[in-house]
Amino acid sequence: MKVRNIGIILNGVTGRMGTNQHLVRSILAIREQGGVVCGDEIIMPDPILTGRNAEKLEQLAVKHGVEKFSTDLDAVLADPYYEIFFDASGTPHRIPFLERAIAAGKHIYCEKPTAVVASEAYRIADCAEQAGLKNGAVQDKLWLPGIRKFLALKEQGFFGKILSVRGEFGYWVFTGENPDQPAQRPSWNYRSEDGGGMIVDMHCHWRYVIDNLFGKVTRVFCKAATHIDQRRNESGEMFPCTADDSAYAMFETDTGVICQFNSSWAVRVRRDDLLTMQVDGTEGSAIVGLRKCWVQHQKDTPRPVWNPDIDSPLNFYDNWTEVTDDKTYDNAFKIQWEMFLKHVVADVPFPWTLREGAKGVQLAELSWESNAKGAWVDVP
Ligand SMILES: NC(=O)c1ccc[n+]([C@@H]2O[C@H](COP(=O)([O-])OP(=O)(O)OC[C@H]3O[C@@H](n4cnc5c(N)ncnc54)[C@H](O)[C@@H]3O)[C@@H](O)[C@H]2O)c1
Repeated sequence: MKVRNIGIILNGVTGRMGTNQHLVRSILAIREQGGVVCGDEIIMPDPILTGRNAEKLEQLAVKHGVEKFSTDLDAVLADPYYEIFFDASGTPHRIPFLERAIAAGKHIYCEKPTAVVASEAYRIADCAEQAGLKNGAVQDKLWLPGIRKFLALKEQGFFGKILSVRGEFGYWVFTGENPDQPAQRPSWNYRSEDGGGMIVDMHCHWRYVIDNLFGKVTRVFCKAATHIDQRRNESGEMFPCTADDSAYAMFETDTGVICQFNSSWAVRVRRDDLLTMQVDGTEGSAIVGLRKCWVQHQKDTPRPVWNPDIDSPLNFYDNWTEVTDDKTYDNAFKIQWEMFLKHVVADVPFPWTLREGAKGVQLAELSWESNAKGAWVDVP
């Protein structure tokens, strides 16, 4: 088979997501497996790392055996060998980077949120489309094993008519005040001026999760909160939290499925996973986690009777069955990367575009509008 090398600019990948999910678990993993088979070709991604700090880039490149890195993004963009520009830099920097890459005629792939405000997210989608460039935004949750298992059962009609969804997302993110318990997420996430905040972060995800699994989002009601008002940054200094660390939201859909999502960095976990969605349908229910999915069919549904005077005779964790199959599930980011590469090289359809990504930013913005008004807001 003929090998088709494809030059990819990986921008802002010294960060958490860029390094772990995109460089190591996706691009390098694809190279290690011998590329992506596409028709009679093998697509082989050939990365160059770009960013501001040459020392950090070099360290990352050496550690992972990447040959090329540069702090001169303009020069790299001017090189026609590189066909794809990928961005995982901080959210406020995304649009200026994408604009430069579009002007240089590169196909565009990037992390979510694609912008901080919806008008910019739609504008950049327009720009990429008008320039005739292939484009995509990360929607990784769609390829989580738990969600794939749920979708397979949904397609078989296991749940009957789906009625409602209760999503619980989050965990305790340490404030960093106690030296023995350092914060486990970058501090910018808690500063709105740096693109942080639970709503802009997670409602982007909930938009494509709900749209793809349950029905198109038509209305939102949201209450935002900043429960923890100060944290310690990477330099050890205290800073005021200007972004929301929690969001309590309801979403209506065009299928009638009502979805509630609690998202919080200020909760302690007593549930099956860091994200769980309880899906209740007329014939059965599911608890969808990141990797696992448990179901309870109508025939296994217990018959509780309300009696607080005695301990419950029922263990409500019984009668749930873990969904098992003989499939192997690859890394969700890598699966989407492979599809984007096939889209660029062979025009294989790729519906997870910048325009779809913009819908996530729109939902975040409308969630804030709902919070401000204390009212339901239509999602067009
Ligand atoms: N898909 C997901 O599940 C998911 C999860 C977490 C974060 N993200 C998104 O990924 C992006 C990065 O988040 P992270 O957690 O990796 O943050 P991070 O702080 O670890 O990384 C940010 C990266 O951007 C770089 N950067 C910042 N400003 C830059 C500039 N002006 N020019 C060039 N590079 C610059 C930093 O050096 C760093 O490499 C964010 O947009 C975030 O919303 C997505």
